[in-house]
Amino acid sequence: MLLLQGSDIVEHLHQNQSFEVTPWEVRGKVDYRKLAEHFGVKLISQEELDRLKRLTGELHYLLRRGFFFAHRGLDVIFERVEKKQRWALYTGRGPSADLHLGHILPWIFAKWLCDKFNVELFFEMTDDEKFLIRDIPLEEANRYAYDNALTLIALGFRPDQLHLIIDTEDIKYLYKIAIRVAKCLTLSTVKHTFGFSDSTNIGAVFFPSLQIAVAFLPTELYGEETPVLIPAGIDQDPYFRLARDIADRLGYPKPCTIYCKFVPALTGEEKMSASRPETAIYIMDDDSLVKKKIMNALTGGQPTKELQRKLGGNPDACVVYKYYLAYVDDDSLVEKVYSDCKSGNLICGECKLMLYERIVKLLHELRERREKARDKLESYRISNKFK
Ligand code: TYM
Repeated sequence: MLLLQGSDIVEHLHQNQSFEVTPWEVRGKVDYRKLAEHFGVKLISQEELDRLKRLTGELHYLLRRGFFFAHRGLDVIFERVEKKQRWALYTGRGPSADLHLGHILPWIFAKWLCDKFNVELFFEMTDDEKFLIRDIPLEEANRYAYDNALTLIALGFRPDQLHLIIDTEDIKYLYKIAIRVAKCLTLSTVKHTFGFSDSTNIGAVFFPSLQIAVAFLPTELYGEETPVLIPAGIDQDPYFRLARDIADRLGYPKPCTIYCKFVPALTGEEKMSASRPETAIYIMDDDSLVKKKIMNALTGGQPTKELQRKLGGNPDACVVYKYYLAYVDDDSLVEKVYSDCKSGNLICGECKLMLYERIVKLLHELRERREKARDKLESYRISNKFK
């Protein structure tokens, strides 16, 4: 199938090269199969996709196109759905800057899961994490927590669907769970899992217990076993591997996860990242900047128009095509882009302009809804729902 070929771009391009994936940094070109094996996560199988489709009636485009590709314990969630038992969603953000398009990919999917399963999302803003691990003032991280929350809400979540936790302000919900978690984790385990050293500050060493705590919070709040499903980029897996290891000991259900591949930087590096702003598209970028960034993106096209018409391009090695896969849900358009590129009917400039139009439309909608979200933000806070 055309779309699946496209989604495997990264594997085609980067076999046999070394890479590193941590929650804070992605280096080198990632081989996702090897990474899944290394982390010990399962690739999503056709049977699992079929089972999900039976439950939801359709598959989200990010599943069909292989963006969401790996998981831990998805079968547990399927069973809960089938038996009509309680479960919840959990994801989060380390608010250190404006959001780019990569950040919102797991949240687009989370919104779909919310709607399909009529399930609630617990969302953690780790302003403490960004203060402890990045070199930014606490007040700034906290300000970004509020700002980033507007874009999250703009994706369409209703207040009854989304429970917003800001670590530095909502610590009373987490602290008791976090210290129990912390007591189960040794310094050597945390050092080994996150690559910390003797010069790492002790706040950073404690922080993982807070990201893990939210995975157990719904069980506490509802007073009954409530496993979570965590949609996230695969870089977040180290936290949840530890969470699963200690869940039994603490009497909580193991958190389940579903992971996506990274949206690449415009220049082709593996992960669109806030540390290289010129290679990422930000939700707040104005139209002319977005246009400039897309027009300069790496493509799989030929060096000249004439050669492109004659030989066709290579969408499997094209960042622009990868953005169609990530943000344009219209399959017929995406398939047409793929085949027109290959046949030489579509040249890179036209293809980039078409993508630009779609991306700015998405950004305009998000920015408009962000403004409407300002007055409603408080109604999403966990402190306004749970005592
Ligand atoms: P953060 O802020 O680094 O990233 C937020 C979410 O965005 C995903 N992500 C991407 N996904 C696809 N392509 C990209 N280029 C890309 N860049 C970032 C991340 O994987 C993540 O899912 N510690 C966390 C905050 C957090 C959290 C959580 C995340 C707290 N609890 C539970 C996920 C699940 C952080 O700093 O995320």
